[in-house]
Amino acid sequence: MEVLVTGGAGFIGSHIAERLVRTGHDVTIVDIMEPYYDLGLKRRNIEAVESATGDGGSVRVVEESVTDRASLDELIDGTDVVFHQAAQAGVRASVEEPLKVNSYNVVGTLELLDAARKEDVDRVVMASSSSVYGKPAYLPYDEEHPTQPVSPYGVSKLAAEHYARVYYEIYGLPTVSLRYFTVYGPRMRPNMAMTNFVSRCVHGEAPVIYGDGSQTRDFTYIEDVVAINEQLVGDDGADGEVLNIGSTDTIDILSLAKTIRDAVDPVLELEFDDPRAGDAQHTHADVSKATELLGYEPVVGIRAGVDRFIAWYRENRDWYDPLVRAS
Ligand SMILES: NC(=O)c1ccc[n+]([C@@H]2O[C@H](COP(=O)([O-])OP(=O)(O)OC[C@H]3O[C@@H](n4cnc5c(N)ncnc54)[C@H](O)[C@@H]3O)[C@@H](O)[C@H]2O)c1
Repeated sequence: MEVLVTGGAGFIGSHIAERLVRTGHDVTIVDIMEPYYDLGLKRRNIEAVESATGDGGSVRVVEESVTDRASLDELIDGTDVVFHQAAQAGVRASVEEPLKVNSYNVVGTLELLDAARKEDVDRVVMASSSSVYGKPAYLPYDEEHPTQPVSPYGVSKLAAEHYARVYYEIYGLPTVSLRYFTVYGPRMRPNMAMTNFVSRCVHGEAPVIYGDGSQTRDFTYIEDVVAINEQLVGDDGADGEVLNIGSTDTIDILSLAKTIRDAVDPVLELEFDDPRAGDAQHTHADVSKATELLGYEPVVGIRAGVDRFIAWYRENRDWYDPLVRAS
């Protein structure tokens, strides 16, 4: 199939693209190569996708913004399925630059949906986020939980989801929005709690916890996220729907820091700093809707996933570790 992966030079998009190329699909990546984090990491992501081409599929990479409609129209011509991962990710970036986030995440999504509608693509699979929920009225979040985002990023993801639903209801464009809950694994974005903890511990420094560490998170391993996206190449069981994509269990940030510290260097202390603006206190997914509609069953638990990530980090430290890269 002809597949378009927006944001395919990023963490999640490159893993989706890599899997699809490996399974024989012809993939086009469109990515603006936003220097929000080190572009060297994005080039590595693209190399990983390119190295999968030996198995049958192909990849071409186009450096462009999804807000550029003329390019989008050209790229989407002949596309069967779109995996829309392009966004200015991250709550903190959105607090700093809310207008840019609106342009990329909302306007960019609308342009993409409109181009997809005109080209009659089979499906647009959208990366949404647990950030749409905001403050919990109850936990775990199911998809009926009120949505009251507490950051410009959460607002942008919610608006994008609504556009996707409306394009399905009004124009019949098949769309599925996946509300990811903190995704982690090899090649993950730097400057997230997990990478910061591992990075500091491997350098013999205490991991720094923002707030008291009582915040809880569903950490979802990248393989579980890739698997559900891959399934949606041909599965129409969730068209028009919004689904939580979370993990098997939650963990509080203090326990995560301790788990990583104990695995890497148990003698290290823990450090605490002020909480970050816009961060949700708790995220916890009820994934029963995704299980019911698509048979979604996350398989990688947090301890196994953390061990795998630490092992990968050690093997790839020379190019991935921010301190090694800076030296
Ligand atoms: N990583 C997570 O934990 C997580 C959680 C919830 C939702 N998400 C969503 O999943 C998607 C992928 O996230 P990620 O962690 O891989 O982030 P990422 O920053 O690694 O990847 C996003 C990619 O999109 C590209 N991009 C940004 N704006 C663009 C534009 N206007 N046109 C084309 N490309 C553009 C960036 O250059 C980047 O390579 C995003 O939509 C994000 O909001 C991620």
